[in-house]
Amino acid sequence: MGQVMEPTVGDVVITADQIAARVAELGAEITHDYAGRPPLLVGVLKGAFVLMADLAREIALPVTFDFMAVASYGAATASSGVVRILKDLDVDLEGRHVLVVEDIVDSGLTLHYLLRNLSVRGPASLEVCAFLVKDGQQRIELPVNYVGFHIPPRFVVGYGLDHAGRFRHLPYIAHLDGAE
Ligand code: IMP
Repeated sequence: MGQVMEPTVGDVVITADQIAARVAELGAEITHDYAGRPPLLVGVLKGAFVLMADLAREIALPVTFDFMAVASYGAATASSGVVRILKDLDVDLEGRHVLVVEDIVDSGLTLHYLLRNLSVRGPASLEVCAFLVKDGQQRIELPVNYVGFHIPPRFVVGYGLDHAGRFRHLPYIAHLDGAE
């Protein structure tokens, strides 16, 4: 029987310092744009939990939080576009200024589904902050108002992003070797 090789962390794509600097910039932009109408931050679990914690502390407004958990059906590193809600929001979105916080937009199908789902709940506004957007991959036009970084279409891990449940804790974004 051949030995199964576990994927390993490859080159660092975005360092912890670069992440911190960009998150501070995003927080400042959001603080400016949402002055007088503090947003409800909706984090998409599990990937967004690290960004949520950092971003919220860079927003100088009385933000509130809620979380949704979603899972895409299908292969581990390719998005099928079919989304299952594992945990729905606790709060009512009626009249709220909702800012969805996403870890990464690849095909965009997960976010597209989420936005359709949330928009019918009557929010006063609905915008998106995605930490990473993979260039040239979107299969659908998406209104992403705040983007941390555009990256090439390669699988990455760290800063909340996993492969088979691993690597979410890494303080940087790195390529994954041996998975594709
Ligand atoms: P989309 O529906 O194709 O945009 O995929 C979005 C979801 O797929 C993200 O919320 C992640 O959970 C996952 N995903 C896409 N690309 C990556 C990656 O490079 N690393 C880790 N997870 C990813």
